[in-house]
Amino acid sequence: MTVTEFHCKNWRNLAETTLRPQAGINVFYGENAQGKTNLLEALWVCSGARSFRGAKEADLIRFDQKAARLDLAFEAGGRSQQLTMQLGAGKQITLNGVEKKSATDLCETVATVIFAPNHLGLVKDGPQVRRGFLDFALARLKPSFAALQEQYDRALDQRNALLRDRRAATMGELLDLWEDALARLGSIYARQRQIYTQRITPFASRFYYELSGQKETLGLAYDGAEASADEGGYELLKEQLRQARETDQRMGYTTVGPHRHDLLLTINDMPARTFGSQGQQRSAALALKLAEAEVLAEYSGEVPVILLDDVMSELDGGRQDYLLNKFSGRQIFLTCCDPAAIPRLSDGSVFLVKDGEIHARA
Ligand SMILES: Nc1ncnc2c1ncn2[C@@H]1O[C@H](COP(=O)(O)OP(=O)(O)OP(=O)(O)O)[C@@H](O)[C@H]1O
Ligand SMILES: [Mg+2]
Repeated sequence: MTVTEFHCKNWRNLAETTLRPQAGINVFYGENAQGKTNLLEALWVCSGARSFRGAKEADLIRFDQKAARLDLAFEAGGRSQQLTMQLGAGKQITLNGVEKKSATDLCETVATVIFAPNHLGLVKDGPQVRRGFLDFALARLKPSFAALQEQYDRALDQRNALLRDRRAATMGELLDLWEDALARLGSIYARQRQIYTQRITPFASRFYYELSGQKETLGLAYDGAEASADEGGYELLKEQLRQARETDQRMGYTTVGPHRHDLLLTINDMPARTFGSQGQQRSAALALKLAEAEVLAEYSGEVPVILLDDVMSELDGGRQDYLLNKFSGRQIFLTCCDPAAIPRLSDGSVFLVKDGEIHARA
């Protein structure tokens, strides 16, 4: 997908501005609080997703205004398309002139992947962030995945409730039932995550290797792979649940299963979370997001637009150079504060963001 023109009105601090990006890399620079992240957020929301800053819809509308409007002209599926989004009283979305009831399936047409500073958590934070990454990516590829997740969560809630209810006379039998359901759903759940991990691994490894100047390696492994086995995954999970019963009753929750699994990341065979430097961790998180975009492209046939917010800080010259110049074949929107990185840009468009306005630079 390629954005050809973007217009927004009353989106956060962007009063009214029009952008004509090029098909390759577009760099947006400017001082703090000028509207760079707001611009990427607007493009991201065009893909039907919620704000990556967890903002409420009302926060997205410019202070003192009642409505915001986004207009996106783009090439996708071999033709020119047009999206309009009106926020505020009477939210309205149209795609190629046809009104859309909901934004949820927009991502099938408007494909973007965002890397924001909080995505560093993919490497630095606890396992729930990495599980969330896998699950979000899977839900985007397969609508049926969300239903599986829901069923699993429901079975988990039931087992947890039983663990805490010591009075139930038939608890043993009921636990048997819910553990069977959990093991059955859980092994499918883990298998989906394991397959996805296998799909992103070659891309993430290659991006990381290239980013690091062909010096370092990134390893990925789904920690829970045994439970995902086609043969024996169900039996294994069931046995794990049975064995954990006593502990789980004491704890009051379920301690085994996909809701406890992790995506293990290593840099040069050492755990990235504990041993990675700032730049290495940032590079690893970035490699994961770029790999997510590749898998999405493989699946949908449409290369997503890549939104990179504030990715340059902490990256050395070589890594910045890779991002700015070696990463062709897709449209990129990249923000930074420091225009000093821009001389490194051999081909691309540069824009200054100031006071909520976007100015093209020669
Ligand atoms: N609904 C809104 N209406 C008007 N202004 C808003 C609204 N929401 C946020 N802002 C303002 O937008 C400004 C710019 O935010 P943004 O996050 O885009 O800055 P930035 O250019 O990315 O800065 P930095 O380099 O610090 O990341 C903030 O000062 C914020 O107060
Ligand atoms: Mg910002």
